Amino acid sequence: MTGGNFTKAPEEKGVNRAQSEVNKKLKPLLCTSAVVMAEVLKVLTCLLIILLQKRLNVKDTALSLFDSIVVQYKDTLKLAVPSLIYTLQNNLQYIAISNLPAATFQVTYQLKILTTALFSVLMLRKSLSKIQWVSLLLLFSGVAIVQVQQEGKKESSVLDSSSQNYMVGLVAVVISCLSSGFAGVYFEKILKGSSASVWVRNVQLGVFGTALGLLGMWWNDGTDIAKNGFFFGYTSMVWCVIFNQAFGGLLVAVVVKYADNILKGFATSFSIIVFHVDLIFTVGAVMVIGAVYMYSLPKAPSMLSSTGGGAS
Ligand code: C5P
Repeated sequence: MTGGNFTKAPEEKGVNRAQSEVNKKLKPLLCTSAVVMAEVLKVLTCLLIILLQKRLNVKDTALSLFDSIVVQYKDTLKLAVPSLIYTLQNNLQYIAISNLPAATFQVTYQLKILTTALFSVLMLRKSLSKIQWVSLLLLFSGVAIVQVQQEGKKESSVLDSSSQNYMVGLVAVVISCLSSGFAGVYFEKILKGSSASVWVRNVQLGVFGTALGLLGMWWNDGTDIAKNGFFFGYTSMVWCVIFNQAFGGLLVAVVVKYADNILKGFATSFSIIVFHVDLIFTVGAVMVIGAVYMYSLPKAPSMLSSTGGGAS
């Protein structure tokens, strides 16, 4: 979806020299165009996969897309909700990162593990046993420890703390957590509630994402794009970010379709801890692994019969 974290550089006022250097390097790139590019890439990849599934029959592909996107337009409109929320979330994350110390942001953003579980219970009627709730708390704590320790090792934030507004950052991160949980579970509900493939759903999501991205591009950088062109400032690193955003988004969709959002939280936590090995990291890692084990323990028979299924 739209990646607000690279939409606009912070104002130079109140930002220290290191940040000014970063800004100078980023300045040539019109970041809103990269956001659009990531959405377009996602849609094109999905179209290619659908085409391959239809054995390269262009007519069949076009007809089936017309049916699932235009004829069943009510289904398509449903995707506007997560698209808008993800856009909001990605931009709020940028506000949060600019206003909070990095470690505070990293830790508080992990609260999305808990909001995701909460929305899964409320919207998907998932039932979580007490031990699974405890495992999620353990997971949150494990990742938080790892994040704090990692940030502690780095040099202090490049942002001058006088330019940061803690309250604004905190509100932004809390809303991001709520929106991450809600949008993820809403998307999961749509994906699992119909026979349409994950690729068709991503085309629908990407259509809204592209429209919103174009709107943002026109609003923020319209004049510059007209003057310098869409691809102005694209370096190989920018392409890496774009590919990461596009294929990362598709990976999220596949994980949500074949597993669920709660398990996605476990998977991303693993990816956070996997490269670090020392004492505190080992403690965090053991907590995360313990959480995975506890979460996957079979449920008590009474709970299974009353709810008809597990969380995964
Ligand atoms: O932090 P969280 O796990 O909620 O982030 C999910 C990310 O995946 C968001 O940046 C969202 O834009 C992206 N996404 C996507 N395509 C999907 C689902 C999520 O690009 N189908």
